[in-house]
Amino acid sequence: MAKVIATISLKGGVGKSTVTAGLAEFMSAEFGQRVLLIDLDSQINLTTMMISEQQWAELNKRGDTLASLFADAVNGNNEYFHLETAIQRGVSPVKKVTTVDLLASSLDLIELQEDLSALRVSQERSDGGVQFLREAIAPVVDYYDFVLIDCPPNIGPVTLNGLAAADAYIIPTIPDFLSTYGIPQIQNRVRRFGEEIGRTIVELGVVITKYKSNSSVHSSTTKRLRRDPTIQHVLPNYINESNAIAAAAEFAPYGTLKVKYGNQGQFDQFRGLTVDVMTEAREKIK
Ligand SMILES: Nc1ncnc2c1ncn2[C@@H]1O[C@H](COP(=O)(O)OP(=O)(O)O)[C@@H](O)[C@H]1O
Ligand SMILES: [Mg+2]
Repeated sequence: MAKVIATISLKGGVGKSTVTAGLAEFMSAEFGQRVLLIDLDSQINLTTMMISEQQWAELNKRGDTLASLFADAVNGNNEYFHLETAIQRGVSPVKKVTTVDLLASSLDLIELQEDLSALRVSQERSDGGVQFLREAIAPVVDYYDFVLIDCPPNIGPVTLNGLAAADAYIIPTIPDFLSTYGIPQIQNRVRRFGEEIGRTIVELGVVITKYKSNSSVHSSTTKRLRRDPTIQHVLPNYINESNAIAAAAEFAPYGTLKVKYGNQGQFDQFRGLTVDVMTEAREKIK
């Protein structure tokens, strides 16, 4: 059975897409896992970390992105989205990463979000219009060991589709006041949404990103999060802020993960975080 994990945050720029991409690449190259990446964010950052902008433009023109899925949903038909052609196989610019597939996002999702909200409000559908993604990936999901879903930085209808398809979620955050502010809101919203759809979406933990070891705010916020009983769990491996990780967002050929992410601690941190997530997932997802 695949473990399906959503990455969610209320704030952009916290390293959510970077963490999602890195987890998939490490799961594949270091642990031989088959991974499906699902990019639900209309900013298409995860998509353009995994395929070139030209490849994305072609996919978008052909309608082989998740915008087609939600367009079909809004129009009430199955005209545009075809799972088999939409799944991009063997993505990632890292040569050693061979088992990561991608369902790409599209800038066209921006407009569709409003139509989806309208659908949810109109209650035209008994399931509230949140099961489209889950139903769409059902035929392939168990081919994978892990499915990672990068959600947009809000709890709108697209994110709810991501959560409805997920067994569990992680919350990446920069350890500062503004970035951590929304964590309880996410936890409460996911809990209530789980009740709405009749199952528990398990929290795997908070992922500390862009950590600056010389910042007193970062170390005190991290300590506060670790002590906070409402934050169930902060995953033990943090991702430091680093130039190599920032540069890794560019789609350019890399031989290995050490070359892409840097080998001054970054490789070990990302590998450690990947173990944290896989361990939590195996323990907590039944
Ligand atoms: N650990 C890191 N160190 C340095 N830069 C990072 C790190 N993680 C992410 N970034 C950079 O920060 C920006 C936002 O990251 P991104 O993953 O796109 O965030 P989000 O998906 O939360 O909006 C990008 O330019 C990315 O390259
Ligand atoms: Mg992002």
